[in-house]
Amino acid sequence: MTFEVATLKQRPELADQVGRLAEEGWPAFLLHGSGIAHWNRLFDDFAEYQILFCDPTDNLIAVGHTIPFVWNGTPDDLPSTMDGLMERAIRDRSNPNTLSALAALVAKSHRGRGLSAEILRAMRSLAAERGMHSLVAPVRPTLKSSYPLTSFERYIGWRRDDNSPFDPWLRVHWRLGAQFLKVMPESLIVVGKVSEWEDWTGMGFPESDEYVVPGALQPITIDREQDAGRYEDPNVWMRHRVAGKETIG
Ligand SMILES: CC(C)(COP(=O)(O)OP(=O)(O)OC[C@H]1O[C@@H](n2cnc3c(N)ncnc32)[C@H](O)[C@@H]1OP(=O)(O)O)[C@@H](O)C(=O)NCCC(=O)NCCS
Repeated sequence: MTFEVATLKQRPELADQVGRLAEEGWPAFLLHGSGIAHWNRLFDDFAEYQILFCDPTDNLIAVGHTIPFVWNGTPDDLPSTMDGLMERAIRDRSNPNTLSALAALVAKSHRGRGLSAEILRAMRSLAAERGMHSLVAPVRPTLKSSYPLTSFERYIGWRRDDNSPFDPWLRVHWRLGAQFLKVMPESLIVVGKVSEWEDWTGMGFPESDEYVVPGALQPITIDREQDAGRYEDPNVWMRHRVAGKETIG
């Protein structure tokens, strides 16, 4: 597969395609989560940290979103939400020492060809180029949505016979040498009216209860009396070593 790797700062004309890839890649409700307000900053203030993979005809085939921030190397100092991570990155823009992944997306037409590891390698190279001591990632295990009733902690501990993680996306990180740091139980919180949830999921929610919805890693809670639905997206922080750097913590 032939592809070119560039940043959004180098190829700003591809911004629309980045938006389209997000709509194609995420369940609709996730596009309404906390932290979305900050997301637009990635397209201007942090454009040099958005990694784009294009085919020879300039079709965007994959994206790696990252943001630099200041981290002291300990699990306790990691932000507890995606929102908090972005706020911290925006606040401390002068001397970041760590790159955090935010999301990796591969176009449906190009999935299953090993591009996801290329995205992580490109993120690591960017971290090294910018002198960061680590690349960290709040990882959203992709296959957890098929096991919504299993606790997140148990799921991320599942292993295959070769001791690799059961979840394919955790496995990609693990195979590149990343280590687990800690669970981020509420990386993203999505709150909406019942009608909005019905719209986002294409399902009906006739009574107050917990519901399994496509693409969610655990059930959502619907409260008809309050006309509200809530979902918490759990992630797990992982850390990659960056070439030529001793990680701390
Ligand atoms: C997650 C994602 C980035 C993976 O990209 P990809 O290029 O298709 O993945 P790869 O071809 O590199 O495969 C990675 C691993 O996943 C496995 N895999 C791929 N598709 C799978 C599927 N539908 N079910 C189970 N495993 C799958 C592959 O076998 C491989 O694991 P292995 O080599 O250990 O067997 C892509 O599916 C995507 O963009 N998803 C939507 C957004 C998302 O969830 N991003 C991750 C969270 S930020």
